[in-house]
Amino acid sequence: MRAMVYRGPYRVRVEEKDIPAIEHPNDAIVRVTRAAICGSDLHLYHGMMPDTRVGHTFGHEFIGEVHAVGGSVQNVSVGDRVMVPFNVFCGTCFFCARGLYSNCHNVNPNATAVGGIYGYSHTCGGYDGGQAEYVRVPFADVGPGLIPDWMDDTDALLCTDALSTGYFGAQIGDIAEGDVVVVYGAGPVGLFAARSAWFMGAGRVIVVDHLDYRLEKARDFAHAETICFTEHADVVRHLKYLTEGLGADVVIDAVGAEADGNLLQHVTSAKLKLQGGSPVALNWAIDTVRKGGTVSVIGAYGPLFSAVKFGDAMNKGLTLRMNQCPVKRQWPRLFEHIRNGHFKPSDVVTHEVPLEHIAEGYHMFSAKLDGCIKTVVVPDAA
Ligand SMILES: NC(=O)c1ccc[n+]([C@@H]2O[C@H](COP(=O)([O-])OP(=O)(O)OC[C@H]3O[C@@H](n4cnc5c(N)ncnc54)[C@H](O)[C@@H]3O)[C@@H](O)[C@H]2O)c1
Ligand SMILES: [Zn+2]
Ligand SMILES: [Zn+2]
Repeated sequence: MRAMVYRGPYRVRVEEKDIPAIEHPNDAIVRVTRAAICGSDLHLYHGMMPDTRVGHTFGHEFIGEVHAVGGSVQNVSVGDRVMVPFNVFCGTCFFCARGLYSNCHNVNPNATAVGGIYGYSHTCGGYDGGQAEYVRVPFADVGPGLIPDWMDDTDALLCTDALSTGYFGAQIGDIAEGDVVVVYGAGPVGLFAARSAWFMGAGRVIVVDHLDYRLEKARDFAHAETICFTEHADVVRHLKYLTEGLGADVVIDAVGAEADGNLLQHVTSAKLKLQGGSPVALNWAIDTVRKGGTVSVIGAYGPLFSAVKFGDAMNKGLTLRMNQCPVKRQWPRLFEHIRNGHFKPSDVVTHEVPLEHIAEGYHMFSAKLDGCIKTVVVPDAA
């Protein structure tokens, strides 16, 4: 089969690999019909994630058709159209029993902190991902869901990560009726978080980024006010000014470890690897939220520590909520919103590339060229 493979930082290509085999009776093999490139893939592509091995296939956002199933699989059958959450999870451990699917205890013996994620390095379990013609899906009775007949393929694809994560970011912000919500980051995840904040009762939603074309999308798609942080000497101060000097009730960090906006943080994280990511957006979030407010962190940070303003968070009495998204938990509500026409998730997709051209897809998304917000990858066998 054809599959994307990692060759080293900023280098990916498509190679021939064996079609994955059933390794456990509860495995399924899925023929991928659509995959996406996520902002999280950029952390791998930029060489930020420890133990990203040459030859690894990325891709944790994908849908497809069941091609083969192991002997114990009961919930999906060959030929079914399935959407697969980015988390690999067992469904039965202490954490899965509490809905913490992203924190499953059984799927990643390599690490105690992170769970299993498709195509996300050996730090996250070493599972090959879905930017390929076929992918092995462990715990096939637990993770994959059947794509509802009425759901469009691209909407289903976005439910497997970006949309569920954005919705989750708003949810763990504990937004109360009328709250002022600030979202850092106007990538797909931030756009979905901003849009979801309205569903949860926000009275005002403000999105911050420095890419004008993405801020325009935040106005159109998420009906948000927008701020370009490079237009202000101190973006936090400007946000305080807009919020009666008190700060926002809820702030969502949808940027993560590769935030721009502070040279020192950039050098100590991306260049010197002295911290597990540049917490510029997170520190801005801590400064922007009002005392007693909530910061929701869905932007991803790497292992070990980052220079976070924890003392300020403590003294302001903040609630900090965060996690990798437990994707499948978000689906019932999201399905209702999509079916009722409250929004059309695929509106954020700007590009579609064949798998053979995935290297260009990565470059375009990484360098934010050609108005790129979200790229869908279509394998040749689809
Ligand atoms: N928690 C989860 O389960 C989960 C799931 C998916 C993605 N993520 C993470 O969410 C983040 C966003 O993903 P995405 O696909 O939207 O990525 P993306 O790269 O498309 O978007 C990130 C955006 O942040 C902007 N940005 C950079 N520095 C900023 C700053 N200081 N302030 C405000 N904006 C800034 C960038 O210009 C860009 O538009 C990534 O860190 C990704 O790894 C987490
Ligand atoms: Zn992702
Ligand atoms: Zn589990």
